[in-house]
Amino acid sequence: MFLRAKLISAELLMWKLLLAAVIAIYASLAYADETTAPCKYAYYGTNLSVYTSDELCGPIIAGANASYCIVNSTDCSIINNITMNGRTTLPFFNALGNLSTSKIAYFKFGNKSLLVMKGMSFPPTLTTLFIENITTLDFNQLTTPFPSSLRKIDIIDSYLDIFPASFKWPTNLRNLTLRNNRLQTIPKGLPVNLSTLAIQNNTLNDFNYLPPNLTFLNIRNNQYEKVTDKDWTNLYFL
Ligand SMILES: *[C@@H]1O[C@H](CO)[C@@H](O)[C@H](O)[C@H]1NC(C)=O
Ligand SMILES: *[C@@H]1O[C@H](CO)[C@@H](O)[C@H](O)[C@H]1NC(C)=O
Ligand SMILES: *[C@@H]1O[C@H](CO)[C@@H](O)[C@H](O)[C@H]1NC(C)=O
Ligand SMILES: *[C@@H]1O[C@H](CO)[C@@H](O)[C@H](O)[C@H]1NC(C)=O
Ligand SMILES: *[C@@H]1O[C@H](CO)[C@@H](O)[C@H](O)[C@H]1NC(C)=O
Ligand SMILES: *[C@@H]1O[C@H](CO)[C@@H](O)[C@H](O)[C@H]1NC(C)=O
Ligand SMILES: *[C@@H]1O[C@H](CO)[C@@H](O)[C@H](O)[C@H]1NC(C)=O
Ligand SMILES: *[C@@H]1O[C@H](CO)[C@@H](O)[C@H](O)[C@H]1NC(C)=O
Ligand SMILES: *[C@@H]1O[C@H](CO)[C@@H](O)[C@H](O)[C@H]1NC(C)=O
Ligand SMILES: *[C@@H]1O[C@H](CO)[C@@H](O)[C@H](O)[C@H]1NC(C)=O
Ligand SMILES: *[C@@H]1O[C@H](CO)[C@@H](O)[C@H](O)[C@H]1NC(C)=O
Repeated sequence: MFLRAKLISAELLMWKLLLAAVIAIYASLAYADETTAPCKYAYYGTNLSVYTSDELCGPIIAGANASYCIVNSTDCSIINNITMNGRTTLPFFNALGNLSTSKIAYFKFGNKSLLVMKGMSFPPTLTTLFIENITTLDFNQLTTPFPSSLRKIDIIDSYLDIFPASFKWPTNLRNLTLRNNRLQTIPKGLPVNLSTLAIQNNTLNDFNYLPPNLTFLNIRNNQYEKVTDKDWTNLYFL
C-alpha cells in the first residue's frame, strides 16, 4: 500500500519535471526566436520609421488591396496602420520599405531631413512620383531600380547634386522635373523618348547628356554663358 503510494508520487514528480522541462524548452525557443530574428529593416539603422506595404502590415492576399503601415526599424513593431490611396497625407516616416505589393499609381512625399531607402521597392503600377524638399536625398543607397511603369517624375527643392552612375532611368519616362536642386550636369542616361525636362535653377553649365527628343526644356537660372552650339528646332520652349 505504502509502496504503491510512493510509486504514484514518484511518477507524478516525473511528469511534473517533464512538463517543467517542456515549458523551459519552449520559453527558450521563443526567446531565441525573438533575439535571433532581427527586424528585416534593422540594417536601415536604429529607430527609423519605415513606410511599407509588406507582410509586416498584415497578410499579403492576392487580389486584395495591400495593407500599409509604418514600422519601427529596430523591432518591426507597427507604429501606424495606414489607410491610403497615395494622395492622403501620410503620418511621419523617414524610411521607405518594400512597397511592391501596393497598387499605387501616384506617390507624393517630402518635407523630410532624412530619407533612408536602402531596400525600397516601388510597385509596377506606379506612374507618377513626386518628391519635394528632402535635405539628404541619396540615390546611391537604392538596390532596386525604379519601375519601368513610371512616366512622370518630379524631384524638386532637394539639394540633389548627382545621380549615381548606377541609377537606371525608367525607359517609359516622358516628363521629368528636377528644378531647384544642385545638379552640375544633366543626368546621364535619360530615356531617348523623354519629352519634357524642367531642370531650371540648378548649376548646369553644359548640355552634355541632353536627351534627343525633347519637346519642352526649361533650363532657366543655371550657369550657362551663351548657347550657340545647339539646334533647338524641335523645341517649342526654352
Ligand atoms: C522603436 O523601438 C525602440 C525599442 O523597441 C524604441 O526605443 C523606440 O522609441 C521606437 N521608435 C519609434 C519611432 O517608435
Ligand atoms: C526614436 O524616434 C522617435 C521619432 O523619430 C523619437 O521621438 C525618439 O526619441 C527616438 N527614440 C530613441 C530611443 O532614439
Ligand atoms: C481596393 O480599394 C479600392 C479603393 O480604395 C476599392 O474600391 C476596392 O473595392 C478595393 N478592393 C478590394 C478587393 O478590397
Ligand atoms: C495595426 O493593425 C494590426 C492588425 O490589424 C493590429 O494587430 C495592430 O494592433 C494595429 N496597430 C496599430 C498601432 O494600430
Ligand atoms: C518585396 O516583397 C515582394 C513580395 O513579398 C518580394 O517578392 C520582393 O522580393 C521584395 N522585394 C525586396 C526588394 O525585398
Ligand atoms: C511640404 O510643406 C509645404 C508647406 O511648407 C506644403 O505646402 C507641401 O504640400 C508639403 N509637401 C509634402 C509632400 O508634404
Ligand atoms: C522643408 O522640410 C523641412 C523639414 O525637413 C521643413 O522644416 C521646411 O518647412 C520645409 N520647407 C518648405 C518650404 O516646405
Ligand atoms: C508629358 O509629356 C507628354 C508627351 O509625352 C506631353 O504631352 C505632356 O504635356 C507632358 N506633361 C507634362 C505635365 O508636362
Ligand atoms: C533655387 O533653388 C534654391 C535651392 O536650391 C532655392 O533656395 C531658391 O529659392 C530657388 N530659386 C528660385 C528662383 O526658385
Ligand atoms: C521611342 O519612341 C519611338 C516612337 O514612338 C519608338 O519606336 C521607340 O521604340 C521608343 N523607344 C523606346 C526606348 O521606348
Ligand atoms: C528619339 O531619338 C532617337 C535617336 O535620336 C530616334 O531614333 C527616335 O526615333 C526618336 N523618337 C521619337 C519618338 O522621336
